[in-house]
Amino acid sequence: MSTQTNVSTDLFGSARLGNLNLQNRIVMAPMTRSRAIGNVPNSTMADYYAQRAGAGLIVTEGTSPSPNGLGYSRIPGIFNQEQVEGWKLVTNAVHKKGGKIFVQLMHTGRASHVSNLPIGAEVLAPSPVVLSGQIWTDAEGMQPYTQPKEMSAEQIQTAISEYVRASKNAIAAGFDGVELHAANGYLLEQFLNPNSNRRNDSYGGSADNRNRFVIEIAKAVAAAIGSEKTGIRISPYGAFNEMGAFDGVEEQYESLAASLNEIGLVYVHMVDHSSQGAPEVPESVVLKIRKQFKNTLILSGGYDKAKAQSVLDDRKCELIAFGRPFIANPDFVDRLKYDAELSPADPTTFYTPGEKGYSDYPNLN
Ligand SMILES: Cc1cc2nc3c(=O)[nH]c(=O)nc-3n(C[C@H](O)[C@H](O)[C@H](O)COP(=O)(O)O)c2cc1C
Repeated sequence: MSTQTNVSTDLFGSARLGNLNLQNRIVMAPMTRSRAIGNVPNSTMADYYAQRAGAGLIVTEGTSPSPNGLGYSRIPGIFNQEQVEGWKLVTNAVHKKGGKIFVQLMHTGRASHVSNLPIGAEVLAPSPVVLSGQIWTDAEGMQPYTQPKEMSAEQIQTAISEYVRASKNAIAAGFDGVELHAANGYLLEQFLNPNSNRRNDSYGGSADNRNRFVIEIAKAVAAAIGSEKTGIRISPYGAFNEMGAFDGVEEQYESLAASLNEIGLVYVHMVDHSSQGAPEVPESVVLKIRKQFKNTLILSGGYDKAKAQSVLDDRKCELIAFGRPFIANPDFVDRLKYDAELSPADPTTFYTPGEKGYSDYPNLN
């Protein structure tokens, strides 16, 4: 295991991640901020991420590997050259300030509205199971989710190749690695969970079959850019986007973690949204994953300084991700270190275009 007993567990001490030296054990969690007009990253986004480069590792907002995965308004992509050029602004700005940055590859799958997609793109999912409720579109305001089409065997292969191309693009754009978003009810988790995956081919039915798509993507991406540059985010017991509980969830994730370990992924990043009202993630599943997966484990969701240091000291994980505190506190790491006051974020500007409530939050100094 990577948990050598002689390694310091100080939240503010340096850490290794694959071949990278991180300046501390604090990860900025991926957060969609919807500032990428035309799905292309821009200089405002470079400013925002550079301001937050005090994190040991930044994981970007969810970024689509495919035109079909751009289900939300103004989320960035990484499937064409213009997007790669835009991301170079971001990675250069972060690296200049001594930070490290992974891009989160998020394909929205059925969590989508067709009017948010470019012309010719489609809302695809493992099965034609539509989400209830509504989604924001810039064109038509709130709309019911689009009925997804069941992915054909060929479309599954295309999606895998899109992840590979996006990962190569990520390296070309200067990213230190990629995080596969297999959490929060997006395409990858739609395959994992039987509530959204009703297939009866080799990608559905048994737990092994439901794990297959994620494992094939992880394998293909690791082969393309290196397993030491490939991480993954998962949310067992997650309920977001109508995932919901199912029988055998722990055994399925235990087996998935064993496969990801075999591929040699650099990290598993676990989501726990119980602090925001989601179901509690039992310690048992964290321990099962910990047992199977020998590289870095990142835990996230509702951490403060004391809780983060305590789980690090107990060697339950190597890195801790913080999300919401980074929004209004670009110098969050320093504020945490010196117990300085944290500014509250304004939720009304979480997903609005422009600098307001985004790159205009000041440092404390
Ligand atoms: C505005 C906002 C956007 C988010 N977008 C993403 C995302 O794109 N991908 C993802 O995996 N999680 C996303 N999350 C979840 C966060 O990464 C994190 O798991 C969550 O905020 C809980 O951590 P915290 O208690 O430290 O904020 C988002 C959260 C917020 C508040």
